[in-house]
Amino acid sequence: MPLPLTVEIRKVSNYVGQEVAIQGWLYNLRESGKLLFPLFRDGTGIIQGVVAKNAVSPEVFDRVKNLTQESSLRVTGKVRAEKRAPGGYELDVADLETVQAVPVDSAYPITPKEHGTEFLMDHRHLWLRSTRQRAILGVRHEIIKAVRDFFDGRGFTLVDTPIFTPAACEGTTTLFEVDYFEDKAYLTQSGQLYNEAAAMAVGKTYCFGPTFRAEKSKTRRHLTEFWMVEPEVAFARLDDVMVLGEELVAFVVAQVLEKRQAELKTLERDVSKLEKSATPPYPRLSYDEAVEILRKKGSEIQWGGDFGGTDETWLSEGFDKPVLVHHYPTAVKAFYMAPDAQRPEVALCVDMLAPEGYGEIIGGGERIPSYELLLQRIEEARLPRQAFEWYLDLRRYGSVPHAGFGMGIERVVAWICGLEHVRETIPFPRMLYRLTP
Ligand code: 4AD
Ligand code: MG
Repeated sequence: MPLPLTVEIRKVSNYVGQEVAIQGWLYNLRESGKLLFPLFRDGTGIIQGVVAKNAVSPEVFDRVKNLTQESSLRVTGKVRAEKRAPGGYELDVADLETVQAVPVDSAYPITPKEHGTEFLMDHRHLWLRSTRQRAILGVRHEIIKAVRDFFDGRGFTLVDTPIFTPAACEGTTTLFEVDYFEDKAYLTQSGQLYNEAAAMAVGKTYCFGPTFRAEKSKTRRHLTEFWMVEPEVAFARLDDVMVLGEELVAFVVAQVLEKRQAELKTLERDVSKLEKSATPPYPRLSYDEAVEILRKKGSEIQWGGDFGGTDETWLSEGFDKPVLVHHYPTAVKAFYMAPDAQRPEVALCVDMLAPEGYGEIIGGGERIPSYELLLQRIEEARLPRQAFEWYLDLRRYGSVPHAGFGMGIERVVAWICGLEHVRETIPFPRMLYRLTP
């Protein structure tokens, strides 16, 4: 007899009535008299097995009966449609081979009971196997794929930017310094400066990689290592990147809604709230208007101050879609931000705030195209001019207006999945007090 075909659990519907093999792990085991109901998972799905005492050999029955949680295995059996089963199919087990049995005296640490967050974070390498974490991983994957498809479909060229950098992009207070042979280097805070060089080469570019911030704050929105996608476009102005940003986010939301309903259901996400964000345009608000709204709501904010997390939450409360807040005071923004020619105290910049209090997901705007002004800003910010000579070259040789933005993937995952904290949005989070596993 030929060996049965090994299939993925997500595809068992194609094999009803056939003998198949599945390889994976034991998720759970229920017993009811002469029947055993092992739940198998293989990373693509979950299927309930049925083991009847009189249908298998006593050895196989005992092997299943004594299986410990997360033991790895290969199982063969016949697929049967069963409406009441989780996933809609069951496997009538014929045989089961244990690949590795988890010893009874050192049982799998994560059980169906409630565990504290710190315990789960310490066991993140195992916690990833849970249904909920797998759903988050799936949504994250879809978001990243949608981001790439969006830019690739619009003629953007992916240009990778370096991780070791000689200087700061987003302020000197959040730099991670590393030894670099006889010298020192910093882990990149953003690929933007290099993106600007790439935009002058290819017109429309994006980079997508890990970025680092030595954030000493312990908030639910900050990681020290996070993934950022950053488009940059030659000749683009503030309005162009606002439109690009809303179209990107709407596309990402629409793709997740179309392809990841099962995961959103597992996460108990209220999709009716997300659906609104799947179509542009999004509302726009100037910083001036935002300050007025906040003051009416009782915020202490003064014109000129930056928004705190609570301010961002209050601002987003009035809208059921992300909101674009533009023209912040130049003084609270990075050195490269172009000031508004009519009103230099505000910058040609934009932040996109997610709805439901998920905070800033996009930050960007127009860059200073003038050599003189950029040099002045570099000096005012007390940045080492030497390290920025190459960046100044971009203003010496065919400088043009240009704009771009950065979107933090983890913030977007948190919002779309409806997660309380960014620590669950990335497989192995890095935070102020978390460097393991
Ligand atoms: O607003 P930021 O600091 O902008 C930049 O880095 C620009 N240079 C990007 C550009 O114009 N090319 O960061 C952009 C986004 C934020 O809106 C947020 O979504 C995310 O990156 N972000 C973080 N996400 C998680 N943890 C942190 N510590 C983050 N800091 C920023
Ligand atoms: Mg920002």
